Amino acid sequence: MTSTEPLPAWARDRVAELTGRLLPESSRIIRDTSEFMAIDRDSVVELGGELFLVTGTERERRFGLAGEPKFWVKRALALGSGSRHILKMVFHERFRACIGQLEVVCVRSAEKEAAVLDLVRGDPRYMNGRSVRDERGNLVRVIDFIEGETFLSRILGLPLSHEAYIESVFPGVLSAIAESLLAIERLHRSGLTHGDIRNDHIFVEAGSARLRWIDFDLDQDTPAYDVWSVGNLLHCVVAKGFITFQDAFEQRPELATALQEGDASVFFPFRVMNLGKVFPYIPAALSRVLEHFAVSGTVRYDRVGQVAEDLGACASSLRRPGDTTLFRV
Ligand SMILES: Nc1ncnc2c1ncn2[C@@H]1O[C@H](COP(=O)(O)OP(=O)(O)O)[C@@H](O)[C@H]1O
Ligand SMILES: [Mg+2]
Repeated sequence: MTSTEPLPAWARDRVAELTGRLLPESSRIIRDTSEFMAIDRDSVVELGGELFLVTGTERERRFGLAGEPKFWVKRALALGSGSRHILKMVFHERFRACIGQLEVVCVRSAEKEAAVLDLVRGDPRYMNGRSVRDERGNLVRVIDFIEGETFLSRILGLPLSHEAYIESVFPGVLSAIAESLLAIERLHRSGLTHGDIRNDHIFVEAGSARLRWIDFDLDQDTPAYDVWSVGNLLHCVVAKGFITFQDAFEQRPELATALQEGDASVFFPFRVMNLGKVFPYIPAALSRVLEHFAVSGTVRYDRVGQVAEDLGACASSLRRPGDTTLFRV
């Protein structure tokens, strides 16, 4: 059975000091996180001898909308230091993803996320944290909370037309993304992967304006999944959002003859990957990078590092003195 113990008076006092809230006297310390659905705001969890006050359950915040709760991801305060954390609890999930002909099995692995956290500790291009086994042996990730917004919401929120975006901040965005991709290459060189490369798994840290990767627990048996996922990230970077064939035809009916099936993304066939046809002012070198991820592509990338190199070159050729930079590289 799970051992729980009444919350000592000092801990209740500390919670009151940190949050202004009084916990009920009946509050107990949770040491087994298996039943994470039952752990909620005002629960106190002990991990590695440290007490954490749970302040809420995280949600996937895509496009600025609050999505479904992720009951295995909690916001928390360390009662000792008062610092903010994300606690990620063990949640088993397995599904298949198809990328063209390639079928990939995806599993959640707390061990993989823990290994990444160990590898990247101190490197600001990733979230930082550690892993702790709870009383039942569940590998909980205790992650430093990053204050900021997702890369996706930053890009979508820019009050610029597409052409103005490409003309102004885009070279800087490309070099920041190239640097973030070098961080992914570092994982691959160590035999690890990110596993879920998405535009909302990069946080733009408030204050430093650094891009930092989050969420490493999804695992596949091939780094090819990461390489293909980079194509999805680039689609969003270049399109300043997402462009489906339907969007393209609605906005510009003349594209109905220009766009072909081969222009689709291999990963998400309803999205246009050959974006040069939609935005003729993007540089040809960038269109060639995108084509690696399109159905029409005849050459593919084997390594994320190659994409980083090509993007870095595009960024340098576009750079002008005095360019605005949104992100710190
Ligand atoms: N280090 C972090 N700092 C701030 N917020 C985070 C951090 N890690 C995760 N989150 C938030 O929690 C949400 C869910 O966490 P995530 O690791 O993406 O879980 P899952 O593996 O279920 O997708 C993220 O979308 C993000 O909003
Ligand atoms: Mg996630």
